[in-house]
Order: sequence, then structure tokens, then C-alpha cells
Amino acid sequence: MISHFHFKSVDSTQDQAFRLINSGVKLPFLVTTDLQTKGRGRAGREWASEPGRSLCFSLAVQLPSKALLGLSLAVGFFAYKYFEIPEIKLKWPNDLMLEDSKIGGILIESRSNADRADVCIGLGINLFDLLSSPYKGLKKKINAAEMTEFILNSLTEYEALGFSKYRDAFERQMWKLGEEAVLRVDGVATRVQVNGVSSEGLLVTKTQGELKVSDQGEIIHG
Ligand code: BTN
Repeated sequence: MISHFHFKSVDSTQDQAFRLINSGVKLPFLVTTDLQTKGRGRAGREWASEPGRSLCFSLAVQLPSKALLGLSLAVGFFAYKYFEIPEIKLKWPNDLMLEDSKIGGILIESRSNADRADVCIGLGINLFDLLSSPYKGLKKKINAAEMTEFILNSLTEYEALGFSKYRDAFERQMWKLGEEAVLRVDGVATRVQVNGVSSEGLLVTKTQGELKVSDQGEIIHG
């Protein structure tokens, strides 16, 4: 088992993980908390969580820098496998969806030193419906340490084989696959058809018959 740092309250498990890295703690390690006061998501968005209803944790690992592309998709897929809830969908690039409601998000942040990177993989999961917002939950208790063990084991294979190994399985769970949706990049929304993902984990869409590969933005409701 890897080192596990638990805090009653912390601003963000991501920030705490980076502070621990800066203070010389060896990777890999896990940071968990009961209460996150300044949780954040992608693009500087706030991440809402409630003690007892949400799980917030960060896993700090060293990975080859080339493994970063596709990592949030792979971690989303490993989370789906761990939950064993077939109805979960994976929304490109980093959301876990249940009945069209976001029940989890993944935030990948890294510091690269040449070909190796120190990576903090932040997971925020709504276990039970939140009281202060309309977000639904998994309706299942999840143990962060056990889930981390599962993700770490899966990452060993991911590191060796890359995202392409998971591409087909990811697409089978992909939210809005084959459907019309809106792709928003830098605030600009475009209506697209969701075609899948590339072997690197980039989004493949179709607009007026033309295929396009994107590494930016996010799919939002149509
Ligand atoms: C997103 O959907 O944009 C990603 C959300 C990630 C939230 C988690 S909660 C644990 C970790 N600490 C944070 O501050 N953020 C991540």
C-alpha cells in the first residue's frame, strides 16, 4: 500500500498533494480529506462537495510525460470499471455521468521534468445526491484507498500499452456517442456529431460530413 495522508479539512487535495511533493514526499501517495474548502475543477471552475456525500482525493504518481495525453480518459475508464455500474457513461474528456447527470470529474495536473512528470490525479465523486446543488450521486459507498489501489494497478498497464488499448472499451461507454451534441472550446459552441476518440484519446467529431480531431474543449449537452 502506498503512503496515505488524510486531512480533516484541506483547501484542495490537489494543492495539498503538490505541497507534499514540494516538501520531498516520495511518489506515489494518496491524499484524502473529509472536507475540501477550495476544490477546483478544469478551467479554474469551482468543485462542490459535501462531507459524507462526496469523495475528494488526489493520487500523486510519476509517469512518463508522453502518458499524459489520454490519461484523464483512461482514469475515467478505470473509475467506471471500479464502480461496476454499467449505466455510467464517460463524457469527453473527464466527466463521469449517470442518467445524464455529472457524478464525478477528473482533474489532471502535472509538473514535467523532461521525460518524467509528477502528476496529481484529482478525483471528485458524488457518492450520494448533493443537498446544496442538483448533482446526483452514485448511491454507493466507495473507499478511496481501495479505488486508488485499483487505479494504480491499471496505470501500470496503461503506462506500458498507452490509451489505444482502452479506446474501443472507452467508446462503448462514451456519452453521446453517435449523437448530436455541442462542443464548447474557449467559450465558442459548435454543434457536432460525436464520433469517438482517437487512439491517443483526442475527441473525434463530425460537422457537415467532415471529421475533426480536437484536443481542447468539452462536450456539453445538445
Ligand atoms: C472537473 O470536473 O472539472 C474535475 C473535478 C475534479 C475535482 C477533484 S476533488 C479532488 C481534487 N481536488 C480538487 O481541488 N479537485 C479535484
